[in-house]
Amino acid sequence: MRFIVSGLFLFVLFCHAAAYDPLDPNGNVTIKWDIVSWTPDGYVAVVTINNFQMHRHIISPGWTLGWTWAKKEVIWSMVGAQTTEQGDCSKFKGNIPHCCKKTPTVVDLLPGVPYNQQFTNCCKGGVLPAWGQDPQAAISAFQVSVGLAGTSNKTVKLPKNFTLLGPGPGYTCGPAKVVPSTTFLTPDRRRKTQALMTWNVTCTYSQFLARKNPNCCVSFSSFYNETITPCPSCACGCQNKISCVKSDSKILKMVGVNTPRKDNAPLLKCTHHMCPVRVHWHVKLNYKEYWRVKVSITNFNYRMNYTLWSLVVQHPNLNNVTQVFSFDYKPLVPYESINDTGIFYGMKYYNDLLMEAGPFGNVQSELLLQKDKDTFTFKQGWAFPRKVYFNGDECMLPPPDTYPFLPNSANQDLFSITTFIAAMLLLLVAFW
Ligand SMILES: *[C@@H]1O[C@H](CO)[C@@H](O)[C@H](O)[C@H]1NC(C)=O
Ligand SMILES: *[C@@H]1O[C@H](CO)[C@@H](O)[C@H](O)[C@H]1NC(C)=O
Ligand SMILES: *[C@@H]1O[C@H](CO)[C@@H](O)[C@H](O)[C@H]1NC(C)=O
Ligand SMILES: *[C@@H]1O[C@H](CO)[C@@H](O)[C@H](O)[C@H]1NC(C)=O
Ligand SMILES: *[C@@H]1O[C@H](CO)[C@@H](O)[C@H](O)[C@H]1NC(C)=O
Ligand SMILES: *[C@@H]1O[C@H](CO)[C@@H](O)[C@H](O)[C@H]1NC(C)=O
Ligand SMILES: *[C@@H]1O[C@H](CO)[C@@H](O)[C@H](O)[C@H]1NC(C)=O
Ligand SMILES: *[C@@H]1O[C@H](CO)[C@@H](O)[C@H](O)[C@H]1NC(C)=O
Repeated sequence: MRFIVSGLFLFVLFCHAAAYDPLDPNGNVTIKWDIVSWTPDGYVAVVTINNFQMHRHIISPGWTLGWTWAKKEVIWSMVGAQTTEQGDCSKFKGNIPHCCKKTPTVVDLLPGVPYNQQFTNCCKGGVLPAWGQDPQAAISAFQVSVGLAGTSNKTVKLPKNFTLLGPGPGYTCGPAKVVPSTTFLTPDRRRKTQALMTWNVTCTYSQFLARKNPNCCVSFSSFYNETITPCPSCACGCQNKISCVKSDSKILKMVGVNTPRKDNAPLLKCTHHMCPVRVHWHVKLNYKEYWRVKVSITNFNYRMNYTLWSLVVQHPNLNNVTQVFSFDYKPLVPYESINDTGIFYGMKYYNDLLMEAGPFGNVQSELLLQKDKDTFTFKQGWAFPRKVYFNGDECMLPPPDTYPFLPNSANQDLFSITTFIAAMLLLLVAFW
């Protein structure tokens, strides 16, 4: 059985190498169409978007969903979402469709639209939290009335070529597949109804499709060595270096400097790594049974607020997190046998907003971890994370040979009294 499972695992790994996140092997966004009624010339469907990803949310300005109609279908009306363009409806007289395009592009409505345009789970500006963070809220839905379409489950042709922007590129969607019809419970839970026909589309994310360079980097420090290991130079590509802003620049006093652009182009503070986000991991204290880490996240983009940010960390001691002081924490267990990964979120109304670059553009917390005597060590960079993801994208780590080093007393040449004293002090700190 084990062999079959690991064989399958490898098969999946190699088949979907481009869209594979080892920390969230089943992560996907599923788009479900439920036909709820037939009409004289087509059907009414409820379209539900579920973000089943553990740690990747869809941030503002939200999702954009597209597809290609199989025949000459039109959209008569939509509730809870809208198409961005109507297209050419000139051949219609009297009733004019909402959209006549062969490839409609749909976006969510903004919060606060009038009641008659709302639909259950709609109108969030397309923003969806990750499943791991808030499964109840990781859902978006709208209703669409389709004309010039099939009017039975034998004549309906499934839409093709689904595309999802979340909000930028990165998602690849498979073909629509007819699945067993969804059943719905009435609000009083006393009656079950059933969709007339249901199909699903599954979209998966690949960081390589999303962007050429990482979006964040990691730096390290420790109490046992004063070296600070910085982010690698140009970790996020240095193409924005020409337009970056020095911290004393006059631009920063200008009105509108923080206004986001339509194309989401960043305005970065000049740094040697040129990343919009840096995660710093500081090994702060060593107790007998526990050790303590301080994590800080810094935003270097003057045009971006990260609402509902998430941080995923892989470290072998995360199976023994005793306390996380100012972030929310959830273990992420992608494989039943390994428990070395966790997600950190901001606390609601306290630090769930990572503000634009500047004096408030950072969030931080400390973690207390219980030592497992068999594995715990400060040697060879063991105390630093193996992988770090910010908002679902993997961050670049420094090369291992630059990690802060534990002075190794056994190999130390104690020829002078000063190094001897220094070593004793460090030993005291390390083993207390
Ligand atoms: C999508 O994600 C859900 C939740 O993790 C999982 O149950 C489902 O099998 C996934 N679908 C595909 C096609 O991978
Ligand atoms: C279709 O999608 C829904 C979620 O929207 C999911 O619950 C269901 O399991 C999916 N069906 C299949 C066969 O993947
Ligand atoms: C699918 O959509 C993409 C982007 O909209 C387009 O470039 C491509 O030609 C489409 N493919 C088909 C088969 O319609
Ligand atoms: C179509 O509807 C018939 C009965 O109305 C049902 O037996 C059949 O399973 C349905 N087919 C699909 C693909 O939903
Ligand atoms: C970030 O949020 C603050 C407070 O809500 C707001 O004043 C600021 O304009 C926002 N900045 C960006 C880049 O959206
Ligand atoms: C994983 O570790 C956390 C502590 O960080 C613990 O609360 C949780 O129960 C563990 N889960 C499993 C499946 O071992
Ligand atoms: C946490 O560490 C203690 C002490 O080493 C160990 O007994 C316990 O099994 C660990 N907990 C987990 C979930 O690994
Ligand atoms: C601190 O770490 C750096 C980088 O790994 C290393 O070069 C240096 O020797 C270490 N300092 C001590 C006192 O061990």
